[in-house]
Amino acid sequence: MILGDTMLTNSKEMLLSAKKNNYAIAQFNINNLEWTKYILEEMNNLKAPVILGVSEGTIQYMGGYKTIVNMINGLIADLKIEIPVCIHLDHGSSIDSCIQAIDAGFTSVMIDASKYPLPENIRITRQVVLYAHANDVTVEAEVGHIGGNEDGVRGQILNATLEDCLELVKATNVDSLAPALGSVHGLYKGELNLDFEIMKQINKNLEIPLVLHGGTGISDHKIKQAISCGISKININTELQLVWYQAVKEYITENNEVYDPRKVIASGEKNIKDKIREKQKLFMNQQIIN
Ligand code: 13P
Repeated sequence: MILGDTMLTNSKEMLLSAKKNNYAIAQFNINNLEWTKYILEEMNNLKAPVILGVSEGTIQYMGGYKTIVNMINGLIADLKIEIPVCIHLDHGSSIDSCIQAIDAGFTSVMIDASKYPLPENIRITRQVVLYAHANDVTVEAEVGHIGGNEDGVRGQILNATLEDCLELVKATNVDSLAPALGSVHGLYKGELNLDFEIMKQINKNLEIPLVLHGGTGISDHKIKQAISCGISKININTELQLVWYQAVKEYITENNEVYDPRKVIASGEKNIKDKIREKQKLFMNQQIIN
């Protein structure tokens, strides 16, 4: 649904269309205003819907939930963005955090209650779904536990089972599901072992779209395999940070007298946009032409 006179939308239609047509929607996480601007500009050029992932760390860093929503709305209007844009709370850690995001105007939330046993995960997720759906906001949940570097803490990986996924979805009426199947946030230490078999079975048994977290560092081949096994949304954060950092490091080395933050930050723009284009083509199952 397109809300009011902005292009803000929840993730329902974009994800269902991706599931039906065998491609994946990109969730690119934002870190600041520039990041958001580059993602919106590039995805608008590509005429592709986008999910802007916002972690609680970013919300705190930028000032708060309302700041994020107002900034994105301002950019959509000023840059004349014409694609559907979803503002998504990434890894909401509590019911309260999800409510604050929804009240501020986020159009989608993830409730990550995966650190609790399944019955508690279900109880918390169900409450978020009730509040979210009453506000036309979509909800993503997590089953198992996706490991990795979450706000500096390296979490444990716990793979999801088909039974747990079915039980949670039936009991909560959630809109999309992130089953932990081997991917981690941040850089991989050693070989990635994604459980494509269970992924396929979960997809076959569920009508809602599946989400792959930890998109950074997964080979193109495995991304395509994941999409063919039913993944409809892929989250990318670290990879954009890495290519931005590479460009900025070079720029500062070559221009060591420049102190204007606008020039320093913007020196990473091309790398971010190139990476977004590359990922979008891959997720659409298109040939990558640079
Ligand atoms: P990466 O940082 O590994 O790309 O993961 C992003 C993510 O899954 C956000 O939820």
